[in-house]
Amino acid sequence: MTSPGSALQSETMVLRGGKPLEGEVALRGAKNALPKIMVAALLTHEKCVLRNVARILDVSITAELIHALGGEVREAEPGVLEICAANLRPMERSVLRDFSGRSRIPILTCGPLLARLGTAPVPSLGGCRIGSRPVDFHLRALQDLGAVLHEEAHDAHLTATRLLGNKIRLDYPSVGATEQVILSAVLAEGVTELSNAAVEPEIMDLIMVLQKMGAIISVDVDRVIKILGVRELRGFDHEAIPDRLEAASWACAAVATHGRIFVRHAQQAPMMTFLNRLRQIGGDFRVTSEGIEFWRAGERLRSTALETDVYPGFSTDYQQPFVIALTQADGVSIVHETVYEDRFGYVDALRRMGAQIQLYRECLGSLHCRFGQRNYRHSAVIVGPTPLHGADIEIPDLRAGFSYLIAALAAEGESRISNTRLIERGYEDITGKLRALGAQLL
Ligand code: EPU
Repeated sequence: MTSPGSALQSETMVLRGGKPLEGEVALRGAKNALPKIMVAALLTHEKCVLRNVARILDVSITAELIHALGGEVREAEPGVLEICAANLRPMERSVLRDFSGRSRIPILTCGPLLARLGTAPVPSLGGCRIGSRPVDFHLRALQDLGAVLHEEAHDAHLTATRLLGNKIRLDYPSVGATEQVILSAVLAEGVTELSNAAVEPEIMDLIMVLQKMGAIISVDVDRVIKILGVRELRGFDHEAIPDRLEAASWACAAVATHGRIFVRHAQQAPMMTFLNRLRQIGGDFRVTSEGIEFWRAGERLRSTALETDVYPGFSTDYQQPFVIALTQADGVSIVHETVYEDRFGYVDALRRMGAQIQLYRECLGSLHCRFGQRNYRHSAVIVGPTPLHGADIEIPDLRAGFSYLIAALAAEGESRISNTRLIERGYEDITGKLRALGAQLL
């Protein structure tokens, strides 16, 4: 598989703002579904076909990971991957170390590797810097399923003969830990009952893949997922769901720049919460069988108070692009971030661009939050509308990166945005899409 790196010529983008974004962009498979589905292919000896694959960094990293484990990943045609993990082998520690710091996907290989090889290294992890992002739930769940954790000075690994189903309750509905349990329990002996599970659409897509492979998984009321382990799984042919988080990002870009963007393949159902909130602040949309078009209903946007939450709540991944739109809304908006303790690091740069945003340690909302009364500035008060002006800014994480692009496009004057490679983790051909929407890239 070729890396998407070539799509973006440089790590710095220079943009001139003040012009509405207008036109069409098309979504491909979801960044938060594709790599996990690729990992599911490690559960079988048979060939798997994954369609609607976006050319993003997280997909290339997962392909490299599968190669390093002895599997094959081939781009059969544009957007279609054939994955075959007939001959898995343990990964060299030094190779695993290369993946550390680049992605959070390697931890999800633990279940498949334990099932296939009886041993799995525990990787140290990368991903966006938006909080401490530990893996304690993952390791506890794997041990609840019978894996034994061996910890040495610079090395940790798990072993198991065959994992054994169990009742597991997550302290928090973590997306990754839910996927970990599902990917581990499908080939375990007996029933696993996971309560307080996350039920994001991308997790449901993974469950659809596993059902195609022969797994027996039910999603019951109150976010309980039951997995009846089977002896073996077969290959799959699957088209990944479109990326709702990218769709929401473009929606915010349309509203913030006073533009109009048709997002081909965007789907209404998984975006319901976002769409309601967008309409409340004065954004509008039209749903068709081919996608969703977004624009501003009137001249002005209205402020709001919102809290991020697990699905079906307002996703934390919508938060950063939405805040850019709120800088252009009349009055005081409040955003309480309850998923990550440190997802407002990007606002300093916005302040330099003219935004009025204050951060607070208090929970400014009604949700029970793990970060209240602690030292985390996880609530934001945004006063708008404030004209934005161009600035030199460095991207700290994926969604913040997209948000800076929107801010720069809504701003008067030129902005120089560095570290744009981080955007490639989850947005395909960002330069091409921006140009197609009339953005002035210098
Ligand atoms: N957490 C723990 N211990 C764990 C696992 C998670 O304390 O063992 C905490 C995290 O620190 C965080 C919360 O639980 O405070 C939720 O984390 P979660 O495990 O749900 O996040 P994740 O699986 O690492 C995925 C997405 C993120 C998205 C979150 C929440 C992928 C590859 N990443 O991360 O996506 O924000 O779920 O929905 O699926 C993004 O797309 O920009 C992005 C960061």
